[in-house]
Amino acid sequence: SAHDHAQTHKAQILVASNRGPVSYTLGDDGELTAKRGGGGLVSGLSAIGPDADALWVCSALGEGDREAVRRGVGEPGVRMLDIDADTHAAAYNGISNSVLWFVHHMLYQTPLEPVFDAAFREQWAAYEAYNRAFAEALAESAAEGAAVLIQDYHLCLAPGMLRALRPDLRIGHFSHTPWAPVDYFRLLPDDIAEQLLRGVLGADRAAFLTRRWADAFTACALEHLGEEALDGKRIGVHGLGADADFLRERAHRDDVEERLVSLREQVGGDGTRKTVVRVDRTELSKNIVRGLLAYEHLLHTRPEWRENVVHIAFAYPSRQDLAVYREYTAEVQRTADRINSAYGTPAWTPVVLHVKDDFARSLAAYRLADVALVNPIRDGMNLVAKEIPVVSDEGCALVLSREAGAFEELGDDAITVNPYDVTGTADALHEALSMGADDRDHRTKRLAAAATALPPQKWFLEQLEALRS
Ligand code: F6P
Repeated sequence: SAHDHAQTHKAQILVASNRGPVSYTLGDDGELTAKRGGGGLVSGLSAIGPDADALWVCSALGEGDREAVRRGVGEPGVRMLDIDADTHAAAYNGISNSVLWFVHHMLYQTPLEPVFDAAFREQWAAYEAYNRAFAEALAESAAEGAAVLIQDYHLCLAPGMLRALRPDLRIGHFSHTPWAPVDYFRLLPDDIAEQLLRGVLGADRAAFLTRRWADAFTACALEHLGEEALDGKRIGVHGLGADADFLRERAHRDDVEERLVSLREQVGGDGTRKTVVRVDRTELSKNIVRGLLAYEHLLHTRPEWRENVVHIAFAYPSRQDLAVYREYTAEVQRTADRINSAYGTPAWTPVVLHVKDDFARSLAAYRLADVALVNPIRDGMNLVAKEIPVVSDEGCALVLSREAGAFEELGDDAITVNPYDVTGTADALHEALSMGADDRDHRTKRLAAAATALPPQKWFLEQLEALRS
């Protein structure tokens, strides 16, 4: 069951997501420090202004958050649910990140995975309890006829549960991930597949980042539930874009300028070396290792690039409770080290890998990029692909996986890669590094325009309006 502050006020607009807009750390002295998060939803919600009657319902994620809830420390407009830690872990690490994430990103490695056994069924019960805690909190905090926007694969059951508790509400669900194609979604046990689809379709409107994911969802619903399940339901597409105003201003503050100086030093040479930049969470779907292998192949087959290019790779640890993520993080490090020992010279480090999350340094790398490498196996959108062209100082060439949601909008001006094709990706890097200045300028402008077509504030308002109409 969830403990949190008593909320008597009822909101007109509610957002629900696992990770909220604020997190707390508990210092040794017992002091709680609040940290505001970023991301599309945070900027999106800013569109409705501080006076709007909005409430964000999220989970307490660590000890700091839990302690904040216990002490009654919080922010106006945020309701943090302290769901039992084991239940949360089974729902988040187990079902959400080891099953649903793997299904939608097609990450399973047969023949060992997946296994839907008794342990999976226990985790599933926790996922139901976790979703119920959200549905109950939303039901309690929503004003009559309020609009509720439920986010992502963590909360697929909550829309249906909420609908049963509060038929008066307008409920939307938004998926920030891809949706699996029918033949892959069928890996899931039938009853689980049905519950997930019925849960999402408990919303009036289910929305996705691209047409491709929306169509996959519809196909799965038809396959498992039949046509009637879609009666009266609306399926929407809102392609979240980059927040140009925020990024351009943020990328020219002092802390970014400082990082730019230090990054230039790490690149070294006489200032003519080119850079291939990637910035990701260390996430299996981001395909960082194959990116490094492609870069290695480029150095191997085209020695003219040796000493003349540096791969700046920022890979920020994520989901480290999961062994497979920890192993992947280690493999990224090993691969970068191996390339540096094989090709590096006293005056040139071929790969500059950083693993400590630093937003200002990421923006500095965006500004410096000659080539942006975005090669995910599958990705709901991939905002890095949209942000780099907006921020880059001198224009950049984008090497982009055809499996990223962003490809639908950026594909025409990017150099396309099949993310599994390492030698093909090496060729694409060569083409990107060799691109003429005019071509590069021209493409960067068009990429930036496409990338900012639907900034977060518009993206959020569009969904709200669609839900209310
Ligand atoms: O891609 C889906 C998503 O929810 C993103 O919106 C977000 O960047 C990421 O996954 C968050 O993962 P986590 O909360 O597990 O760190």
